[in-house]
Amino acid sequence: MRKLGIVSFILFSCLFCASFAATINQAELYHRHSSLQWQWAMSALEKNPMQDHARVLDVGCGDGKITAALAEILPEGYVIGLDLSPQMIAFASKTFTSPRNLLFLRGDARALPFDKQFDWVVSFCTQHWILEQEMALRSMHESLVEGGKILIVTLAPSPNNLGPQCQRLAHSEKWSQYFPNFKPTRLYLTATAYRELLQKTGFDSIVIEETPSVTTFANREAFRQWLKPLVSCSTHLAVDLQEAFLTNLVDLMLQAEPPAADGTIDIHDLKLEITAQKSPLQDI
Ligand SMILES: C[S@@+](CC[C@H](N)C(=O)[O-])C[C@H]1O[C@@H](n2cnc3c(N)ncnc32)[C@H](O)[C@@H]1O
Repeated sequence: MRKLGIVSFILFSCLFCASFAATINQAELYHRHSSLQWQWAMSALEKNPMQDHARVLDVGCGDGKITAALAEILPEGYVIGLDLSPQMIAFASKTFTSPRNLLFLRGDARALPFDKQFDWVVSFCTQHWILEQEMALRSMHESLVEGGKILIVTLAPSPNNLGPQCQRLAHSEKWSQYFPNFKPTRLYLTATAYRELLQKTGFDSIVIEETPSVTTFANREAFRQWLKPLVSCSTHLAVDLQEAFLTNLVDLMLQAEPPAADGTIDIHDLKLEITAQKSPLQDI
């Protein structure tokens, strides 16, 4: 009976992961084309210094470079990077073998396997990849010690967000035959929605900074390379179709934000930097 319970749990977890979550499988490519994400994380970390002995969980650690940098700056603490993508975790584990206070784990942000273990839970450019955001915030809350903090960098809704543009293209006359069951894989929430969710999931001292951001790409090819590993909705297609979809997606996004005369491309986003603290236990 107990065995049956464990088997059902594993089956349920696999189905849950396979059917609703989008991940990045091109770890090497992401590693080479994610300097923007690196800059956003470093800027948020500079504003939120952590104690040398801090225990930190990095949710959606991706290729692991930010997690590894964190472990370097917290020599007396430890840092665990967690990501749902097996390719990302394999890449991070083989690329960042030191320092010794660093570990990478495959896991799901919606069901973190920790209980009151971390002083900080950080998450960079990942929250909008998770449709069940409340589950993820609750799970972060459970992973924190009393008084522990979260630091999240994510995207708010803006006109050229990748998720809705993928959806628009997938529903177009040309592409709808390849996406009979298209399901959105991103959820962009406003600062107000995050504030409400954080209050609901047991956080206080909530600070949310919303900043318009402009990223300049040298040319169309540079933009395409940056975008490529992030397009998770077309990975079920043959490689040549994935490339064709990407070309059309670049066209669509550049219709919204056309290149300048010198070929450079400015992409506008709305960045959210969120910090909050796990509320202290209420006296009974
Ligand atoms: C844009 S990358 C960000 C990686 C890294 N934090 C950075 O800033 O470079 C988003 C990451 O979230 C991961 N991801 C998506 N859904 C997830 C989930 N439910 N649990 C854990 N990781 C998830 C993806 O596999 C991907 O590596």
